[in-house]
Amino acid sequence: MTNFGLIDRYREFLPVTAATPSVSLGEGSTPLVRSQNIGDSLGCKDLYFKLEGCNPTGSFKDRGMVMAIAKALEAGKKRIICASTGNTSAAAAAYGARYQLETLVLVPAGEIALGKLAQAMAYGARILAVNGSFDDALTAVRSIVEIMDIELVNSVNPYRIEGQKTGAFEIVDELGEAPDMLCIPVGNAGNITAYWKGFNEYQSLGRSETTPKMMGFQAAGAAPIVLGKPVLKPETIATAIRIGNPASWEKAEAARDESEGMIDIVDDNEIIDAYLRLAREEGIFCEPASSASVAGLIKLPELGVDLTGKTIVCILTGNGLKDPGTAEKRALIELEYVEPDIDSVMNLLNSGK
Ligand code: F0G
Repeated sequence: MTNFGLIDRYREFLPVTAATPSVSLGEGSTPLVRSQNIGDSLGCKDLYFKLEGCNPTGSFKDRGMVMAIAKALEAGKKRIICASTGNTSAAAAAYGARYQLETLVLVPAGEIALGKLAQAMAYGARILAVNGSFDDALTAVRSIVEIMDIELVNSVNPYRIEGQKTGAFEIVDELGEAPDMLCIPVGNAGNITAYWKGFNEYQSLGRSETTPKMMGFQAAGAAPIVLGKPVLKPETIATAIRIGNPASWEKAEAARDESEGMIDIVDDNEIIDAYLRLAREEGIFCEPASSASVAGLIKLPELGVDLTGKTIVCILTGNGLKDPGTAEKRALIELEYVEPDIDSVMNLLNSGK
C-alpha cells in the first residue's frame, strides 16, 4: 500500500471518522533498536532505543502532527500556527505544505537548531522569530488563536496527543508486552503525556498486562517540573527542551505518579556524554534533547534505581542531523587535512598523530 502511515495503522484507536481525510507522510513504524553496548554496561536485561528521528521530518512530532492536520482539514481550516523550539515547526511546515495550509510558526529568535530552521524555510512556512523564549512564543500563539481563524497545532491540541500515543502502541506491538520502564525527555510535556495515555489504552484493551514506569528527564537549566516552579529564563544546550513552563505540566506529573516513575534532572554535561555514547557505542546519532533520556537512564543506578533484569525503552525523539552545530562543537574530532595522494595519506597515518 502506498502512503501507509500511522492513521492507517492505528485507525481503530484514533479519533478518525469517515469524514477525516487520509493524511500521511509515511510517519510512524519507527525502528526499535536493541542496545549493543550501553545496556550491558548498565546491567539491564534488554535496552531498546526507539528511533523517532526516522520519522519523515526527523522527529516524533510527525506522529502528532499527522492527526492534528487531518482534523484541521476535516474542520475546513485553511491556516495552522504553532510555537516551537524547532521540531514542531518543521513538522507543521511539512504537513502544512503537503496539504496546502498556510503555516505560521513562532520560534525563539536565535535559539533553534540550524537544521530545524532550514526545514521550516524549505517547506515554505512563514517564520516569526520572537524576541523571547518558547514559553513567550506559546503564550502569544494561544492569544492569537483566540482572535484569528487559525488552527493551533501545539500539543495543547488534543489531536497531537492522540497521534503521539501511537509510539506506545508500537513498542507494545513489537515487544509483545510493555517494558518495565520508559525513559523520555520532557520539555513541554506533551510526549510523556501521550505515551502514558497510549500504554494505558493498550492495557485496558488487553494488549499488555502491565504499564511501564514513566521516567522523564528535564535539562538542569530548564527543569520546572522538578523544581516545582516555572523557570523564567530556561537555559540548556538541548534547545529542543529549553522550556520553562510546560503546557502539560499536571499531566506529566500524573504520568509520573500513576506509573510510580520519576521526573528528574540531567545536566548539559550528562546530556552531551550520553549523546556521544549513543553515537560512538551504538551508532545512533540523535539530537541532544533526545539523549536526555539516556543520560537519565545512566544516572538511575546512582539514584538508587535497580536496573538489573529490567526491560527498558529510551525514546530518542529527534535526529542528530537537526543540530549540526552541537556535533561540530562537542564531538571534538578535528579534521586532518591532507593532499589526495597515497604518500601524503600514508605519511599522515604513520606520523603517530
Ligand atoms: N525531544 C525533542 C527532540 C523535542 O523537539 C521536544 C519538544 C522534546 C523532546 C520534548 O517533548 O515537549 O512533548 O515534552 N519539542 C517541542 C518543539 C517543544 O517545539 O519542537 P515534549
